[in-house]
Amino acid sequence: MTLEIRNLTVSFDSRRVVDIDSLELGDAEIVALAGESGSGKSMTALAVVGLASTKGATVAGSIKLDGTELIGMPQSELRAIRGGRISMIFQSPVSSFDPVFRIGTIFRGALQLHGASRAEARDRAAEAMRGVMLAPELLDRYPHQLSGGQAQRVAIALAIALRCEVLLADEPTSALDVTVQGEILELLRRLREQERMAILFISHDLAVVAELCDRVAVMRMGRIVEVGPAAEVLRAPSDPYTRELIASVPKLTSAAAG
Ligand SMILES: Nc1ncnc2c1ncn2[C@@H]1O[C@H](COP(=O)(O)OP(=O)(O)OP(=O)(O)O)[C@@H](O)[C@H]1O
Ligand SMILES: [Mg+2]
Repeated sequence: MTLEIRNLTVSFDSRRVVDIDSLELGDAEIVALAGESGSGKSMTALAVVGLASTKGATVAGSIKLDGTELIGMPQSELRAIRGGRISMIFQSPVSSFDPVFRIGTIFRGALQLHGASRAEARDRAAEAMRGVMLAPELLDRYPHQLSGGQAQRVAIALAIALRCEVLLADEPTSALDVTVQGEILELLRRLREQERMAILFISHDLAVVAELCDRVAVMRMGRIVEVGPAAEVLRAPSDPYTRELIASVPKLTSAAAG
């Protein structure tokens, strides 16, 4: 699997909020998209799953999955890829699920849409829940009856059940306490190792990025100002903005000094 982004722009009317020359994601690779609030991280991910237009944005450029162009692809075909091959964990996990359906119904609907039979869908949903250390009984709940951490894990379980190749994780841990945050990070690591899933990990938390990611792309005002191996970029940032970002994380600066 290769995901290749080239000359991607996302605009609201004449305001350009994403302008990326080039970004790639390979098999089993975890790439961070870091940068301050409003720098265009979420809009980039939404463009990849074909949902930026639902927010009223205009998308141009090229996003290729194994050579197949996703931009301009009919929604019916995109729907098959979204969920089938690319899955997204949204920034606000609870509100990313349709509130009127139970979690199990959402799960089974997604699996059946991608070819599973009713019985298969039921089994795979339960198995995926166990895989993220959640009781399958939670499938009977409505989205608002889950905690933030449970909702994030349900979203990951759904990506596992759908056997996705690419996971776009938009701040999957920022709303969680440190313990739950650690569990989710561990889960993402396992997904990469066991399923060889590629992960675009969106975060403004550079300490987490340093711990989890192979490469990091730093965004500022819609552009990627620096990209490279996470360890290198964080140890010796070449861009002044990256330096500023790193300086704002005490844990990282003390690690670099010591
Ligand atoms: N529906 C919208 N209408 C108009 N502008 C929008 C809309 N959604 C986002 N934007 C603008 O697009 C830019 C990028 O937003 P985006 O959500 O991608 O930022 P982000 O990097 O994910 O920030 P955060 O870290 O706060 O989640 C921002 O300037 C934002 O104001
Ligand atoms: Mg965001």
